[in-house]
Amino acid sequence: MAVTFCKYIVVGGGVAGGYAAREFVKLGLQPGELTIFSKEAAAPYERPALSKAYMFPDAPARLPGFHVCVGSGGERQLPEWYAEKGIELKLETEIVKADVENKTVTTDKGEVYEYGTLLLATGSTFLDLADFKTAGADAKGIFYLRDLRDADKLVDAIKGTNGGEAVVVGGGYIGLELAACLTVNKIKVTMVFPDPCFMPRLFTPELASFYEGYYEGKGVNVIKGTSVTAFEKDDNGQVSKVLLKDGRTLESTLVVVGVGAKPVLAPFKGLLEEEKGGFKVDASFKTSAPGVYAVGDVATFPMKMYGDTRRVEHVDHARKSAMQAVQAIKAAEKGEVVDEYDYLPFFYSRSFDLSWQFYGDNVGETVIWGREGAAAPGSKFGAYWVKDNKVMGAFLEGGSADENKLIAKVAREQPTVNAKEDLVAAGLGFASKI
Ligand code: FDA
Ligand code: NAD
Repeated sequence: MAVTFCKYIVVGGGVAGGYAAREFVKLGLQPGELTIFSKEAAAPYERPALSKAYMFPDAPARLPGFHVCVGSGGERQLPEWYAEKGIELKLETEIVKADVENKTVTTDKGEVYEYGTLLLATGSTFLDLADFKTAGADAKGIFYLRDLRDADKLVDAIKGTNGGEAVVVGGGYIGLELAACLTVNKIKVTMVFPDPCFMPRLFTPELASFYEGYYEGKGVNVIKGTSVTAFEKDDNGQVSKVLLKDGRTLESTLVVVGVGAKPVLAPFKGLLEEEKGGFKVDASFKTSAPGVYAVGDVATFPMKMYGDTRRVEHVDHARKSAMQAVQAIKAAEKGEVVDEYDYLPFFYSRSFDLSWQFYGDNVGETVIWGREGAAAPGSKFGAYWVKDNKVMGAFLEGGSADENKLIAKVAREQPTVNAKEDLVAAGLGFASKI
């Protein structure tokens, strides 16, 4: 069988794949040296757009508008960009087999490629309610969101619903962002999730209460503390009812689910060391196999700031880990090493007129400031997470770019605070003095 050699192979043409390509070009790439395989039909794009502007009823975002690297203010990498740089972008091509001893990967078309260096950027996929054995989870009208194809199906369903009703299952990132998008599309939304509040991965109940109140003010019905046990279908297999554990039944022909994600490890599972659900990497994103790196959602990496290891499912890390890995690959070729990855966690979300950012670690006690005036349009409020008298994390709703930089600095520097009341009184003023 013919085997094609390629100096660098990237598996996964998502956010990390796109940013890795840019870094290779920046650091010097000869035509023909890099091949990127992607299951998707589109060149790498900024995935966060899918649960935001892609769903807008007016002037929605569409490709080629949000190809990487526009999300970080960089040049937009259209499909032609890859061709111009001599990068082979093999779309709609899945890697289905790998051999890390012989350094080969095999596509779903049966082609075999040998790599010098392999970069895994296979991202995550959504958790499916069928995986939780929820009865009726195969009904028509139940939607998930990970990629463009999912987004297009949901857009069609939204148009077909024509101002009707929808149930959103999940109160995390997808649930919150899509509940807002559906509402903006004049659909009456009921959200259902088992947690005591919105986004418990990050929010405290007090912090969440602002967002819950805001969503309710927009007409969203929020049902907390229960989950979906089954879906009922009509004669056409279309979802008609959502049955809840607390005994309630919701009628709806449109259901949107966001109950979490899982990293895509196939077909490399069993070939590489794993930790915390991802591929274990060092501070250069090198895995346990020679010449194999893993970045983005699939990598469990050393978190230098906190002295532990983590897997992060957010876009900022996807971009930065890809850049770090490529820098490490290029440095290794010269017998050099790069500084270890020193990541400051950064999460954000936007929905309705709201926009928040969080930096650092959400550990310790939460101190909220500015919450009283938070209902006023354009108002700001925030929170600090304090552990052992150090500010470990900082959150800001409605901040400007400069203000968000201030809270990032606080989280990076972890200043000492003696009295938490001082933080409440100073609010953003505390960050501006760091
Ligand atoms: P990503 O998922 O981007 O790409 C992986 C690619 O690999 C996909 O194209 C996949 O098809 C492909 N692939 C997988 N297996 C393959 C194989 N065997 N062969 C070939 N190709 C394969 N984060 C944030 O910080 N702020 C935000 O607002 C949002 N918003 C957001 C919205 C939505 C709808 C989603 C789904 C996710 C977000 N995120 C986010 C999370 C963020 O988008 C995510 O962390 C990054 O996209 C991860 O980048 P990766 O490149 O690791 O995976
Ligand atoms: P998530 O982990 O943020 O939220 C999952 C939610 O579903 C939680 O509220 C959880 O309690 C709830 N849940 C779990 N099981 C349930 C069940 N059986 N019934 C009802 N609710 C249930 O995950 P997500 O919102 O699905 O997001 C998926 C991925 O996309 C994640 O990797 C996330 O980081 C990423 N994403 C990020 C952003 C952002 O950073 N702004 C936006 C969208 C998506």
